Amino acid sequence: MPSDARIGPSPILSLRALILEDDPLDAELVAATLRQAGYSLTFTLAGSPGLLRERLGAGDYDIVLADYNLGNWTAMDALEILRDSGKDIPLVVVTGALGDEEAVECIKRGAADYVLKDRLERVPMAVDRALRRKAYSDAQARQQEEIRRAKEEWEQTFDAVSDPILLMDEHFRIKHANKSASALLGLELKDLLDKRCYEVLHGLAGPHPACPYRRLFTTGKAERSDIAETRLGRTFDAAASPFFDASGNVRGCVHVLRDITERKRAEESLRQLSTELLRAQDDERRRIARELHDSTGQHLAALGMNLAWVKEKAGCLDSQTNAILEESFEIVKRCTQEIRDFSYLLHPPTLDEYGLASAIRWYVESFARRSGIRVTLELPEDLRRLAHGEEIALFRVVQECLTNVHRHSGSPTARIRIMQDRKSLSLEVADEGHGFQTVRSETTDAGPWMGLGLLGMRERMSSLGGHLEIESDGHGTTVRAQLPLEEKAA
Ligand SMILES: Nc1ncnc2c1ncn2[C@@H]1O[C@H](COP(=O)(O)OP(=O)(O)OP(=O)(O)O)[C@@H](O)[C@H]1O
Ligand SMILES: [Mg+2]
Repeated sequence: MPSDARIGPSPILSLRALILEDDPLDAELVAATLRQAGYSLTFTLAGSPGLLRERLGAGDYDIVLADYNLGNWTAMDALEILRDSGKDIPLVVVTGALGDEEAVECIKRGAADYVLKDRLERVPMAVDRALRRKAYSDAQARQQEEIRRAKEEWEQTFDAVSDPILLMDEHFRIKHANKSASALLGLELKDLLDKRCYEVLHGLAGPHPACPYRRLFTTGKAERSDIAETRLGRTFDAAASPFFDASGNVRGCVHVLRDITERKRAEESLRQLSTELLRAQDDERRRIARELHDSTGQHLAALGMNLAWVKEKAGCLDSQTNAILEESFEIVKRCTQEIRDFSYLLHPPTLDEYGLASAIRWYVESFARRSGIRVTLELPEDLRRLAHGEEIALFRVVQECLTNVHRHSGSPTARIRIMQDRKSLSLEVADEGHGFQTVRSETTDAGPWMGLGLLGMRERMSSLGGHLEIESDGHGTTVRAQLPLEEKAA
């Protein structure tokens, strides 16, 4: 039973009492005592079990005050009737005499208190205590109900989330899992509890190398990473958000696993598609270059020969015809030069035959002539031949970067540097222009600011296992392409 200190202030001053008494005078005495103590009292008498039932069914009462001996029934019977009624009303026994055993029994059966009639002045205190206890237990019951409802709501929300969620302690032990996590792992909640997450999730004896929760212990903040789980055949965007104790130590985490398998697959096929497209574009350019050279170029050569034949056979021509013939020779020459330039731009033949250095030198020379931009070129003496795909990719990077310098940077100069060591080759194209107008960053993440040029370079590099970096500020832009090289035996 709670101590008085815990049960708070008396909540009721206006009291509705049900008095069980076979002597109406005694009932009046009890009522007078309560009124004297400050209660505004209304009461109803019930002298038999039937009347008690009737009164309980008909009205609302704050307290029941019962004599012990009520003729042919007692306060014990009253307690039983009260319990059966389902009404939670405190009952105080107010009686002439009560043995210890009966008093204990009354309390055991649910009486709030008992007072002897020769100590009637104690009735208000007993009533007050009974009311306080009732108020206290009502508040407790409400609190319990609120807690139960909040827990139920929380569980429902937790289970409604379609992403699998695991709650873990600091030893990677699963403390809770939502329905989606159970379904993913094919285990019921009870079979998941207290298991190590890396055992059930990855089938490992320790945390997965990419586990964000493991990193979280070092960084102290939420972490995430993509994890390909081969056992389940899925890829997850795994996030771990920490719980801390009062001293700031990590005590556990919420681990959310978003299934990104389909997205990853789509990204992969998109990457393959763009690599294929770039390759097809290169092949097509090479084919057109060869066509131009071998077919249109040859036709023009034949046309030049025919014109020469006409000139030789026609003998003496009037000056106007001669001028037209000379002009035709000039047109054929110019077309031949243009066809040659076009076909070289589409695919420099020196690239296949003599390699990257020679193709870049040729391209830089013609670019500088056409654009007026001064280009310096730093190539290692011993730049080795690379695989055809690598050489063409690097050549396209140079081509695109110089075109961008010309179109976007406003720079009067450009510098190309190639550096290589045993493991990698790095190609840098730098200018001294005004830099990127939209995005000034060191990122190569795709964004709306990237055109086909930058995207294409990035795809070319990543399809060969390399990467592309861009540095840009108000003083210029540097694009750096890096490719891993197969180590050659010394
Ligand atoms: N060297 C540079 N200096 C300043 N801005 C640049 C430079 N290179 C690229 N940019 C900026 O980045 C944008 C994207 O370049 P990207 O080469 O991807 O596309 P683009 O040149 O606009 O079009 P295209 O698809 O024909 O190449 C450019 O529009 C330009 O704003
Ligand atoms: Mg471009």
